Amino acid sequence: MQLVFATHNTNKLEEVKKLMPVHIHLVSLSEIGCLEDIPETGESLEENAQIKANYVTENYNLPCFADDTGLLVNALNGAPGVYSARYAGEGKNTEDNMTKLLSEMRSVTDRSAHFKTIIALNLKGETHLFEGIVEGEITSERAGGDGFGYDPIFSPNGYEETFAQLSLKTKNSISHRGKAIQKLMTHLRQLSNV
Ligand code: IMP
Repeated sequence: MQLVFATHNTNKLEEVKKLMPVHIHLVSLSEIGCLEDIPETGESLEENAQIKANYVTENYNLPCFADDTGLLVNALNGAPGVYSARYAGEGKNTEDNMTKLLSEMRSVTDRSAHFKTIIALNLKGETHLFEGIVEGEITSERAGGDGFGYDPIFSPNGYEETFAQLSLKTKNSISHRGKAIQKLMTHLRQLSNV
């Protein structure tokens, strides 16, 4: 069965391909001829994931899943949340986002936060949502050169290091996205057994 992963990010695609059950042939947006960036206009991670999955299902009539992720900081009432990618404003980059977050947290003692990933799957006329969460805290300064996004300033519970100091294998085994993907895989494997 062909299944679309609604992403243009080839790293994400390759990572997920390795985990797919054998009966699933995973394809990216560009492989189905969808070259546009699907606008993320929702006000929650759930809404954005569904918008992206529905766009593909409605326009290409194909089964599809999409993900959306946010970093939610308790002392900031869940910000940057759904706006994580553009926290410092449109046209700003990851460095600007981290600078803004560290500055907002300068005199904050409760540094607890979590990453949350939502995956929306449209398959056989049904939509299923899968959630993955990793709890941790925002560090006071950047550490580590790996990873992406807020990785240099997020330290998962149980680790001294930030995500940017951990290996990708370790990060994937405990991360928000890793957990959401594992739930998706379990669901797909169960379908193949019925
Ligand atoms: P997306 O929904 O996967 O595109 O994620 C939205 C934003 O959340 C990204 O632009 C990053 O800033 C941040 N983000 C998502 N996943 C991670 C992660 O694993 N580490 C650090 N930041 C992340």
